[in-house]
Amino acid sequence: MIGKLNHVAIAVPDLEAARAFYRDVLGASVSEIVDQPEHGVRTVFVELPNTKIELLGVLGDASPIAGFLARNPSGGIHHLCLEVEDIRAARDQLRARGVRVLGEGEPKIGAHGKPVLFLHPKDAFGTLLELEQA
Ligand code: CO
Repeated sequence: MIGKLNHVAIAVPDLEAARAFYRDVLGASVSEIVDQPEHGVRTVFVELPNTKIELLGVLGDASPIAGFLARNPSGGIHHLCLEVEDIRAARDQLRARGVRVLGEGEPKIGAHGKPVLFLHPKDAFGTLLELEQA
């Protein structure tokens, strides 16, 4: 069912500093900061030869990563994104296997313009998994 690792997302308390670290200290190619008001985050994508890192910063008062950053004030790995060919088929198979899908279960358009869903971390051994239709 799952295909490539699309990205690893890291929530950070200071997005500008994290972007500068990946660009200037690690020598990676990084995107500009993009505000994603419909998701309550600001994102930077770090391009690696085989995958991406998504740096997530808070945007607004109701950011979905605010609680995570309160628990992890230095930042930390927030989720992994795995590609699937057909997101609704993947959702239905996972539900049939007892995995909880977060929210209403209808795919939303994610930060990369593709349909995404999140799986309950308690059903995935403590890791928030994002599925993205590739
Ligand atoms: Co993501």
